[in-house]
Amino acid sequence: MEELRVKRRIVLVPVPAQGHVTPIMQLGKALYSKGFSITVVLTQYNRVSSSKDFSDFHFLTIPGSLTESDLKNLGPFKFLFKLNQICEASFKQCIGQLLQEQGNDIACVVYDEYMYFSQAAVKEFQLPSVLFSTTSATAFVCRSVLARVDAQSFLLDMKDPKVSDKVFPGLHPLRYKDLPTSAFGPIESILKVYSETVNIRTASAVIINSTSCLENSSLAWLRRELQVPVYPIGPLHIAASAPSSLLEEDRSCIEWLNKQKLGSVIYISLGSLALMETKDMLEMAWGLSNSNQPFLWVIRPGSIPGSEWTESLPEEFSRLVSERGYIVKWAPQMDVLRHPAVGGFWSHCGWNSTLESIGEGVPMICRPFTGDQKVNARYLERVWRIGVQLEGALDKGTVGRAVERLIVDEEGAEMRKRAINLKEKLEASVRSGGSSCSSSDNFVNSLKMKNFM
Ligand code: UDX
Repeated sequence: MEELRVKRRIVLVPVPAQGHVTPIMQLGKALYSKGFSITVVLTQYNRVSSSKDFSDFHFLTIPGSLTESDLKNLGPFKFLFKLNQICEASFKQCIGQLLQEQGNDIACVVYDEYMYFSQAAVKEFQLPSVLFSTTSATAFVCRSVLARVDAQSFLLDMKDPKVSDKVFPGLHPLRYKDLPTSAFGPIESILKVYSETVNIRTASAVIINSTSCLENSSLAWLRRELQVPVYPIGPLHIAASAPSSLLEEDRSCIEWLNKQKLGSVIYISLGSLALMETKDMLEMAWGLSNSNQPFLWVIRPGSIPGSEWTESLPEEFSRLVSERGYIVKWAPQMDVLRHPAVGGFWSHCGWNSTLESIGEGVPMICRPFTGDQKVNARYLERVWRIGVQLEGALDKGTVGRAVERLIVDEEGAEMRKRAINLKEKLEASVRSGGSSCSSSDNFVNSLKMKNFM
């Protein structure tokens, strides 16, 4: 293959949500460290800023795109469809202007799989493009499979308990009920979104925030199906740190953790989107209180429907929590997970939280809320065997027992050993000579080849 004059600018198109912004900004940092200039194209609904951590990046906003109130009014699915519709033309304008102002120095447009409007501009200006998947490779496989099923018959299967508990053909150990359906919208909408996200159109490659030691067979499946290079270059939070919290972190919890015994604390956080019913929170509080273990609990404002924060919860809740726990609105999660006092992580199993927990060797209690989190939870319990999944209605007995299994019992100690073993493998994969590091180098080298497009 002929080598070209190397173009130096990479345009990133993130989804305006924490779980997507975090890995794409890490990717930006990783590519910047390899000598590329980074332009981040934001929609109007976006709180990513050109803070000191990203002062070397160039930021652009797509004019006329949707705002935060549009998200509230439309809900996530209609928002996504509309965003993709209306950004198509304005993103073209943005890219056109960028090309005019800076000369054609764009090596590649890397867009989040949910921002598929980007493809119209890359086609028009004949730019190379790469799809970036922020979820696991296995979740990508599931979305590809779901994109082909018939919505109505799948819905019937899911409603039948005899079927929903069965392993889905070809996706062992995932059951029908572990597949990434959504709590935020009807099955027809989710399948429609999935068929858009897994359609790689003219993208020349796919980058995934994962690594072969976690998902070798799913990565092989994707390579076979997609017929373009698939580059697993994660975990990105280990490969390239890029602080991109959209909410203010309450660091007082680190002081509190400093006073707790080694490996004794269960850290609870449900990421940036999951919601929780009051009755479940009470069962959790009672269960945690009965478990006799200290706990650090992130309760995000707005995560309890009908409440601003915890003000509508009964007095009893505050008493239960204050005896042994500490609550914050948003935590410095990486610092919490690497704190020696933390013995386990109760998580909704978002992919970033999953990678971050494995990356610190912390075993998990898995309580997925929606989408790909269910896939991750099943893998944590059955494939990597470093998690306990809580299924069905929550009750204080099960909660207390799960905490004991993880923090006190021999079973938890075994899970921790396996988690530490995986942590070491993840670290090795991003070091020189490791699979993710080589994958990342291969991606960069591919940008220099004439037939990359
Ligand atoms: C969602 C999906 O759940 C996830 O699977 C998908 O890949 C992206 O979108 P989210 O629900 O927010 O993301 O979860 P997660 O992927 O775990 O990301 C949350 C991020 O917020 C993590 O990087 C975590 O470190 C950070 N966080 C969370 C904090 O910094 N502080 C907190 O208190 C809680």
